[in-house]
Amino acid sequence: EVKNLEQMFQARIDNDEKIEPKDWMPEKYRKTHIRQISQHAHSEVVGMLPEGNWITRAPSLRRKVALLAKIQDEGGHGLYLYSAAETLGISRDELIAQLHSGEAKYSSIFNYPAVTWADMGTIGWLVDGAAIMNQVALMGTSYGPYSRAMVRICKEESFHQRQGYEILLTLCNGTPEQKAMAQDSINRWWWPSLMMFGPRDADSPNTEQSVKWKLKRKTNDELRQAFVDQTVPQANILGLTIPDPKLKWNEERKHYDFGEIDWEEFWQVVKGHGPCNKQRLSDRINAHEKGQWVRDAAMAYAEKQANKEEK
Ligand code: 3HC
Repeated sequence: EVKNLEQMFQARIDNDEKIEPKDWMPEKYRKTHIRQISQHAHSEVVGMLPEGNWITRAPSLRRKVALLAKIQDEGGHGLYLYSAAETLGISRDELIAQLHSGEAKYSSIFNYPAVTWADMGTIGWLVDGAAIMNQVALMGTSYGPYSRAMVRICKEESFHQRQGYEILLTLCNGTPEQKAMAQDSINRWWWPSLMMFGPRDADSPNTEQSVKWKLKRKTNDELRQAFVDQTVPQANILGLTIPDPKLKWNEERKHYDFGEIDWEEFWQVVKGHGPCNKQRLSDRINAHEKGQWVRDAAMAYAEKQANKEEK
């Protein structure tokens, strides 16, 4: 019985149909979507922290306004994605508890410190650039609510990348010290940005099944390669050197060859031992606790409304 339910389900996937919350789905399909969508949402919310540090330190009102808008967008993306995860039968409280307990992952990239203003440019350009590469592919994902969330989110991401690139363009056309600050920043963010795409396909336990279910439309290595190919010419325009001596255009492959990622560092950060993991989690837990009164007030108001309607 379940066998042919699964076959019918796979036929829908192969037929490029969107799966909606009330449709029958294999338990594993549900579980892997809760896993990925919730971790995506956690990444958006934790991702607000490195940039939040720089709002009061922005060099101009224009830069401050753009940064504020970007951070606000990230928060909205997180809420959007939490709602998509909830359609699979998990509550917001459970999702938040999984993040705060350290059980749930979020993108490794947000465990690195943003130490200069140039980092605001590099994060917009590289981190949001990598996120766009990944999220454009996810617009075609088979689960309806996730795919539709991606369409909305991708529209806002391109502004995030543009404002970051513009910050770097200004610095690279500025004083030698400003250019050096931009070079120092790409030296620190280049490799962690490549790690955002996940382990090599051969070391990725989820990719094979996720591709079959069209959760993943492109593999980790395919997206990473596309990101490098697109980003190297942009670095050349900035006049910045990418910190990879093995980076070289391969005419035969029509792609850039690049050096080996430090997978030891990657897994250390994923396991919670990155430069800022502890800080990021405690910031999130503090913010959640400090926000308890808002949730209580909203509940009290909702109850009052409900009582009024009953009378
Ligand atoms: N950071 C933390 N954990 C990572 C990771 C990373 N960069 N890359 C992989 N992992 C984890 C995976 O979650 C998985 O662990 P799990 O099974 O416990 O979830 C394990 O490492 C093995 O990796 P897989 O490749 O097998 O896992 P996936 O198939 O899930 O692929 C992924 C990883 C490509 C990140 C995929 O989950 C994905 O596309 N997620 C949605 C996009 C996303 O979360 N992007 C993060 C950044 S969002 C962002 O940057 C916001 C922007 O506005 C700035």
